[in-house]
Amino acid sequence: MAADVLRNDRFLRALRREPTDTTPIWVMRQAGRYLPEYRATRARAGSFMGLATNPEYACEVTLQPLDRFELDAAILFSDILTIPDAMGLGLSFEQGEGPRFANPVRDAAAIGKLTVPDMDGELRYVMDAVRLIRKELGGRVPLIGFSGSPWTLACYMVEGEGSRDFARVKALAWNDPALAHRLLDTVARSVAAYLVAQAHAGAQALMIFDTWGGLLGPAPFREFSLRYMTQVVDALKSDPSSRDLPVILFSKGAGGQLEALADTGCTGLGVDWTLDIGEARRRVGGRVALQGNLDPAVLRASPEVVAREARAVLDAFGNHPGHVFNLGHGITPEVDPENVKVLVDTVHEHGRAIRAG
Ligand code: CP3
Repeated sequence: MAADVLRNDRFLRALRREPTDTTPIWVMRQAGRYLPEYRATRARAGSFMGLATNPEYACEVTLQPLDRFELDAAILFSDILTIPDAMGLGLSFEQGEGPRFANPVRDAAAIGKLTVPDMDGELRYVMDAVRLIRKELGGRVPLIGFSGSPWTLACYMVEGEGSRDFARVKALAWNDPALAHRLLDTVARSVAAYLVAQAHAGAQALMIFDTWGGLLGPAPFREFSLRYMTQVVDALKSDPSSRDLPVILFSKGAGGQLEALADTGCTGLGVDWTLDIGEARRRVGGRVALQGNLDPAVLRASPEVVAREARAVLDAFGNHPGHVFNLGHGITPEVDPENVKVLVDTVHEHGRAIRAG
């Protein structure tokens, strides 16, 4: 791996809760359809998976938002559903629809056949993309690798597509907890191997997206989501490639679980916009960094409102180390890229002002 020196380490310093000159910012789904250059590359690639499975295209779109905005981190361009795809579930993205699996897993026979994919085989394209992006970044900013959480991946694997409530996987968890645990354990071992491989290929921080953790009540959350993220964090801590990398957990809609999430031993927690980030900091800020938490819908308002609301998030967090600015969820396709520029520049400006007192 390239021993390049990082020219901007604000993001990593903030995750370690060390002082920074201003607040670092990156944006979930920063490489996405709101950028015309992304839509152009995607058209050349022919499909979303055509884009994601080609390391040159994946590298190109990863860098696009960094060329436009002063972002403090890059995130690997890929998807959380690459793991189930590599397990043989047959992923496709229909135009204008969400993801779909040709072969969802709903019974003991299908779940029993699942194995941990080969990180140098079916998923080699992801590691090749990580290596290429690191090389092309040349130390501009750190690169984030990521995975879905075991629970969130299981939601899609059992349902076979997106859903409002993912009732099928919940029914499986209620009706046959042993089978649900068998599925989650296989997926958790895959997620751990996937993240270790990304670390080995050059990822400098790791994020776990538990997008659907908030669908569970407190006890099932601990049993079916938290437990397996803890298993992954433990595995990352015990491998030399990933041991020293910061790990961010993002359980959307699970604000009631912040303390339990901090107990996993992660470095940072993603926070959605339903929490006051100052209150979140008072609850867990002594133990972990926080990442968030502007409502992504604010980016559809005027530039003045974007700047005002960004300052409000920074003021709520206050003059403390340990804040990585982000949205509370992914940016949406209709956002005007000019508003992202306003957001990034406002965060850096106001972050400096807060530190100056
Ligand atoms: O953040 C980045 O810029 C990195 C790339 C990234 C993508 N997906 C690219 C993508 C990341 C980190 C993800 C994670 C992801 N994927 C999550 C967790 C985060 C979250 O948003 O909650 C989930 C749940 C998925 C599954 C997924 N992928 C869905 C539901 C969809 C369709 C919805 C949509 O936005 O269209 C995708 C497709 C997808 N993944 C797109 C992108 C840029 C849009 C597809 C396109 O270009 O046609």
